[in-house]
Amino acid sequence: MNRRYRKTIIAGNWKMNLTATETKKFAEELKKIMPRAKWCETVICVPACNITAAAKAFKDLRISIGAENVYFEPSGAFTGEISAPMLADLGVKYVIVGHSERRQYFCETDQTVNKKVHAVLNAGMNPIICVGESLEQRETGVTDSWIALQVKCALSGVAAERLRHCVIAYEPIWAIGTGKTATAEQAGEVCSNIRATIRGLYGARVARSVTIQYGGSMNPGNAAELLAQPDIDGGLIGGASLKPDQFLDIINAANQE
Ligand code: 13P
Repeated sequence: MNRRYRKTIIAGNWKMNLTATETKKFAEELKKIMPRAKWCETVICVPACNITAAAKAFKDLRISIGAENVYFEPSGAFTGEISAPMLADLGVKYVIVGHSERRQYFCETDQTVNKKVHAVLNAGMNPIICVGESLEQRETGVTDSWIALQVKCALSGVAAERLRHCVIAYEPIWAIGTGKTATAEQAGEVCSNIRATIRGLYGARVARSVTIQYGGSMNPGNAAELLAQPDIDGGLIGGASLKPDQFLDIINAANQE
């Protein structure tokens, strides 16, 4: 982390878990144990149908609400989709874009990811742009070029002054939900390469202002070590964000540095 130049952001990604009723219960549990003062920004990304319940439940805790997906058109005949202006109107501040599960199961491409990044920014929200390599890619030694390509595609056409609203989440696919975490050095190295890619595109001043998160089996046991890496400015947490005590432990790890 480097608080001097950029925000530290701990974000939960609940994926397709917890009902609106369970969201309320989670917030009540967290309220009992969470101190008021936090150094890092805290976000919880919830299923779209629970955004209103989450916004109400987490208001007192000063936790921002995030969405897990968005459609790139602002309105129109797209049955079942949800637009960026609709999310913004509900008070959503962050939107996860291009999560590997969406790329894998719902045919998201670098092109749709780029369109979604623009849609989120145009609606005044902050995209959390996910990138990550498969195990096969890591083993064949193409991680750096693959991640650089994903970052470049996602940011295509995004103006420099908008970069401070963008968060990049490095999530190695082989570490998601597997209990296998990248070592702090592995994760730190890729995150510093992501910053170098942004530096190449926008220059050093812009690059140092961008928050880069690590995601993939982050938990209370490994968070501090990962967050101690100079280019890891937070986490995108799946499983451990579903348990109030574990999520709080990770927030506390971010507050300690
Ligand atoms: P896990 O923390 O469950 O591995 O999930 C990571 C993730 O996909 C966050 O977006």
